[in-house]
Amino acid sequence: MIRLFEPVITKAHEEAAVHALRSEKFIDGESTYKFKTALQMKFGRKYCSLCNSGTSALSIAIRAAIICHYIASKSKIFTTPLSFISTATAITMSGCTPVFRDVDEYGMMTPSYKDGVHIPVALYGKRYPYIDECKGVVIEDDAQAHGTHNLNTLANCFSFYTTKNLTVCGNGGAILTDDEKFHKVIESLINNGRVPGKNYEHQYVSSSYRINNINAALGMVNLKLLHDQITQRRFFAATYNSTLMDLPQVQIISEPVHDHTFHLYVIKVHKKLRDDLRNYLYQHKIETGVHYPYLIYQQQPYLSFAKKLPKAEKMVKEIISLPMHNKLTFDDVMYVANTIRSFFGYEKI
Ligand SMILES: Cc1ncc(COP(=O)(O)O)c(C=O)c1O
Repeated sequence: MIRLFEPVITKAHEEAAVHALRSEKFIDGESTYKFKTALQMKFGRKYCSLCNSGTSALSIAIRAAIICHYIASKSKIFTTPLSFISTATAITMSGCTPVFRDVDEYGMMTPSYKDGVHIPVALYGKRYPYIDECKGVVIEDDAQAHGTHNLNTLANCFSFYTTKNLTVCGNGGAILTDDEKFHKVIESLINNGRVPGKNYEHQYVSSSYRINNINAALGMVNLKLLHDQITQRRFFAATYNSTLMDLPQVQIISEPVHDHTFHLYVIKVHKKLRDDLRNYLYQHKIETGVHYPYLIYQQQPYLSFAKKLPKAEKMVKEIISLPMHNKLTFDDVMYVANTIRSFFGYEKI
């Protein structure tokens, strides 16, 4: 079976995990410090905080923005309904309200052009293109876009979940910013609202959001691989594109250029053919996915936010995610693309 996603685990991962286990503190150890510093430098921001998930990263960033008075408590926040549910739950759980916007043909949230608070998503790993039109405070959900994040935001929130391009082989997240005051609040919120350096003095109501040191050590190994892995993903995306481009039934939505890291490679087909194509691929031992089968406001907790966003509603019925990971070979990608060609009655290449 050609999987939608497969992790790469090498000897370097095993050694890093064992080293962290045997010789470092489990929390706030040397690997956590190294991973944080390396991310800050690699991702081009002054400050980095590590935490235990991308969901936590988003919630903490919103809470810190409220504490710093950058945004009002109970703010209305413009965001997209075409995302993993955490984008919205982070908003709701911080006492704010999501205001869902429609998307463009690539699935990107259309800008509001209004002054306000925005949480756009760099969906599938593509840089969010309308950042200059988002006036006011922007906290970017970069859970899927390690390296294609925008820098002119208050914060970039990353996930290092197992399936992500940059993973800590488990749960993990990060918040990057250039704002020192905001960063200090975030560091405290991650650590039960502690006063810095004081074990039993607390300044905010918060929780334990700290990352595990072994995960940070694994993240450090993966960070070194990231550049080459993204280059390989772009090559696979270019291969998919060139093999599928003459099929009128397939809409290619991802160009293999510098602003895309290809966390996911997604195509669109007519909604009536989508599930048949997925079944056909499955019969040919190809796993596919749909990111996402429902919009967030079509899910139980957000039904009261339901509205008519026609482009997003059309898109969830048409999208298919094809296998995209660093264990694929060129032949695997050609096999997947040629199986799609044969489904639509086209000759293989
Ligand atoms: C767009 C988006 N936002 C937020 C998250 C939440 O990240 P995590 O799973 O690390 O909590 C994810 C990850 O699944 C995601 O894809």
